[in-house]
Amino acid sequence: MSEKIYAAIAGVGHYVPEKVLTNADLEKMVETSDEWIRTRTGIRERHVAAAGEFTSHMATAAARRALATAGVAPDEVDAIYVATCTPDMIFPSTACLVQAALGASRAYGYDLSAACTGFLMALDAAGAAIESGRVKVALAIGAEKLSAVTDWSSRDTCVLFGDGAGAVVLKASDRPGIRSSLLGVDGNQAEILYIPAGGSRIPASPESIQNHQHFIHMAGRETFKIAVNTMLGAAQEAIARAGLTADQIDWMIFHQANWRIIDAVARRLGEGFVERAIMNLERYGNTSAASIPLALSEAVGEGKIKRGDKILMVAFGGGLTWGGTVVEWL
Ligand SMILES: CC(C)(COP(=O)(O)OP(=O)(O)OC[C@H]1O[C@@H](n2cnc3c(N)ncnc32)[C@H](O)[C@@H]1OP(=O)(O)O)[C@@H](O)C(=O)NCCC(=O)NCCS
Repeated sequence: MSEKIYAAIAGVGHYVPEKVLTNADLEKMVETSDEWIRTRTGIRERHVAAAGEFTSHMATAAARRALATAGVAPDEVDAIYVATCTPDMIFPSTACLVQAALGASRAYGYDLSAACTGFLMALDAAGAAIESGRVKVALAIGAEKLSAVTDWSSRDTCVLFGDGAGAVVLKASDRPGIRSSLLGVDGNQAEILYIPAGGSRIPASPESIQNHQHFIHMAGRETFKIAVNTMLGAAQEAIARAGLTADQIDWMIFHQANWRIIDAVARRLGEGFVERAIMNLERYGNTSAASIPLALSEAVGEGKIKRGDKILMVAFGGGLTWGGTVVEWL
């Protein structure tokens, strides 16, 4: 009988654009205040891509760094999974553009659309492909240029989002790096967080532009309530499926949407969890699919995450979509 193949993270990298937009800058654009944004969300500033900088550029930069830390050459990559809700174009996929830019000559790839849960879905797909034996080296990337779909005249949403990318390299391993992966969707609530136009339902027209339908629309208060309960359930289930108890989790990386959501879920998980929550939304805002790999990459770079650590990652986003994943840092 052949040995079981597991998947493990072998390298991680991130990229954020140079330009920083602070809360003070936003005060000049819409009726808001630094105090409101900080206390209601925890965000102080966010990075915004330059006009000629696209999601594929950020994804490629993050992937290059992840490959370098893994010691993997681009032509060793078998598959590229890009999670994004802001692809460069409707098609070809961003994964194709990343494949070309990296020179990943052997790789196939595709984009996944699962909003803020996208990275955990990409990680799941990449991990499953490796565990099946058909793929040996895979890139799972979360990358977003949310500034392109942000309504800069709406204070309800424009203070929340930022641009960036994070990537991991996954390789076959004789020990399980991905200890559990739980994913869910509920399309019954599609319209509490969505971009109405630009697809086949409402193609671009002078009316769709005039009605701001190409931008993110969110029922914030409703989303908040569902996010807390769903993320708590996903966290508990992911820990159980990994065969662990909550006190065995060393770090938590929650999708970075709002510090109050992270705080509420961490407190409900048990004592000491708030301290184990890795947070960077203060500097980046909500970067959707990029937020978890970006936070993971920073935490590894800062030396917080060490060999043997067990990391719980939890996401929630438009769709609705959610996921909980436990990873062991091998
Ligand atoms: C968006 C969010 C920060 C808003 O915070 P909130 O506490 O729910 O605030 P509300 O929407 O209830 O608005 C409270 C008031 O602040 C106002 N307000 C909204 N945005 C504001 C801003 N940028 N500056 C100042 N005031 C603002 C509202 O108009 C409202 O005023 P009113 O009471 O006079 O009507 C919060 O709901 C949230 O984080 N939601 C979930 C986001 C999320 O998880 N997304 C999922 C993944 S992407």
